[in-house]
Amino acid sequence: MQYPPIISGVPGLLHGGDYNPEQWLDQKDTIWKEDMAYAKAAHINTLSIGIFSWSMLEPSDGVYDFSWMDEVMDMLAANGIKAVLATPSGARPPWLAEKYPEVLRVNSRREHQLYGGRHNHCFTSPVYRDKVQEINRRLAQRYGHHPALGLWHISNEYGGDCHCPLCQQAFREFLKARYGSIDALNAAWWNTFWSHRYTSFDQIESPSPIGEDVSLGLSLNWRRFASAQTIDFYTQETLPLKELTPDIPCVTNLMSTHPSTDYFALGKVMDLASWDNYPRWNGTEGDVETGVDSAFRHDLMRGVGGQKPFLMMESSPSSVNWQPVNKLRRPGQLLLQSLQAIACGSDSVQYFQFRKSRGQTEQFHGAVIDHARRQDTRVFQELTQVGKALSQLSMVAGSAAESRAALIFDWENRWALEDAWLAKRADKGYEKTVVQHYAGLKAAGLDVDVIDQTADLTPYKLVALPMGYLLRKGFGKRLTDFVRNGGTAVLTYMTGYVDEECLCYLNGFPGELREVSGIWAEELDTLYPEDRNAIVWQNQKYEAFDQCEVIHCETAKSMGVYDSDFYAGTPALTENDFGAGHCYYIAARTGTELLTALYRHAAEQADLPRFPADVPYGVGTSTRVGQDETYRFLMNYTPNDAHVTLLGEYRQLYPGQGSISGAQVLPPWGVLVLAEKNEGTVGGSPLRP
Ligand code: GLA
Ligand code: ZN
Repeated sequence: MQYPPIISGVPGLLHGGDYNPEQWLDQKDTIWKEDMAYAKAAHINTLSIGIFSWSMLEPSDGVYDFSWMDEVMDMLAANGIKAVLATPSGARPPWLAEKYPEVLRVNSRREHQLYGGRHNHCFTSPVYRDKVQEINRRLAQRYGHHPALGLWHISNEYGGDCHCPLCQQAFREFLKARYGSIDALNAAWWNTFWSHRYTSFDQIESPSPIGEDVSLGLSLNWRRFASAQTIDFYTQETLPLKELTPDIPCVTNLMSTHPSTDYFALGKVMDLASWDNYPRWNGTEGDVETGVDSAFRHDLMRGVGGQKPFLMMESSPSSVNWQPVNKLRRPGQLLLQSLQAIACGSDSVQYFQFRKSRGQTEQFHGAVIDHARRQDTRVFQELTQVGKALSQLSMVAGSAAESRAALIFDWENRWALEDAWLAKRADKGYEKTVVQHYAGLKAAGLDVDVIDQTADLTPYKLVALPMGYLLRKGFGKRLTDFVRNGGTAVLTYMTGYVDEECLCYLNGFPGELREVSGIWAEELDTLYPEDRNAIVWQNQKYEAFDQCEVIHCETAKSMGVYDSDFYAGTPALTENDFGAGHCYYIAARTGTELLTALYRHAAEQADLPRFPADVPYGVGTSTRVGQDETYRFLMNYTPNDAHVTLLGEYRQLYPGQGSISGAQVLPPWGVLVLAEKNEGTVGGSPLRP
């Protein structure tokens, strides 16, 4: 699949970062000039501007000053750089909070926040929505046809919730629309429990540590509401932009698995996805986990954007300044981090930040231009190398993933699991478990799409659903049909316990997936951290820990059994032939070894295309498919040489050029990028037989 360039007229990959020229207005003759020279040297073609510029654009209520922004836009255009132009709603000027206190949030303890920080605004406040729309309209009127305008960067890292009276009222309206009557709400929330029956929607208050904080229905619906209100705010923000500049895409920068917004739902209203990537590289063997974890986050963000190319909107060229330990990237790791984004489907490498600010908290955060203002620094040299690599790989832009395996990560499910009173109360380990399944799928040589329960399953041959505790309406049936029609599903313990209202399934877990899985789960054993059991499969023992479900086969066959305890010998790993497909069930939490072996087995059974190389532990792989060619990325996440064997003949795109096949050595943190014709004589694309 080939997509058009994200910024019209800019084919190829984007390279750039967050740029705050308004911090240097008094030195623009030197600093701005230097900025442009450095951007050119580093092969930078986009800069994100205006993200936190509200107080410079509207210094007092209704008084606008675009003069400096005019100059910046003209300067970018003159230098062939596209602006990723932001709406400034991520941080408001003090005068706005002073004049309209309702724009500031009220926290869950019902404390009205004072002016401060950023991202501290109410998503409901009509005043805030109006002020944002007004300034956005003016930006679109002024720059909508400016040659520098490339993209709209909407706000910054939306998140959190607000418990003000306006939000309470909007929440009640949300509940009325969902349930129709208070009796229906009482029934759905099981409110006869603890005498919780409401007689009016007016009695409902958002969850609070000083009030109701244990009602499952209330909590889940508050999270749904806060997420929906954020998405509504986004939609409102973009209205004037959509009206005045319908051809300029809008995107907001996301934070991978941030809990407060259902990113898949937000993705449905965005033109594409973008996200801020801050992996904790350490320069050691442990970076293999970091590499796999960041690949998961990239693949998740690609899924949020509907599998189209996305943008890595932020990343640090060296250390950040806010992690507990802010270690430098080891030489070569910036290139690895950057090309990994491209490998997973990003069409950009963008940094926070372009120039280090002189003051305030981000003065020591990594940047393209350091306080020393030199090009001969290690970081500048390395990011110039990234810029060159991106130019060399420009043909990759617009190509997309064509995975046949999908892994489900679902926000509603994660919210329900976080609140649920069972197993390990404080940490059910959902995200970690999903990442572990991702690691297993990747180690089995598969390209993986990360999707949620609302996604269309028909493009896939294999769907993995780890800890699918809450089943969204219709999903059980869709997954069942998927298997009936020949798909392979992999389910785990703690699946199909509750429906969309957090009401338990009667007649045996995994509820609506009982038939397809061919098992029923009788009890869930939660182990202490030091406890261990094992799953015995094909004469091998694989560690089982944390959660062991005691299950019974109905139509399924037992493949593996528990090794010890009172359920020793009972099924722990099962397979069910169902319709034209298969369903596997893993009853206990286990490590990557079993997951890799199982996904390998399932992939062989289902005849899934596998990455055409033999790679050792620590080498990541990823595929993008373009119009005529398929691109293969191999990434060494380790500080040592890695020996890989290519199973075909390819055209090398990076680092060298020319034909390549057979055994290869990837240096520490090294990346190899290959191409093969989709319908050619050389190799062909296993993804397009
Ligand atoms: C976030 C923000 C940026 C900046 C970086 C620092 O991602 O969006 O404005 O604060 O963090 O890492
Ligand atoms: Zn509010």
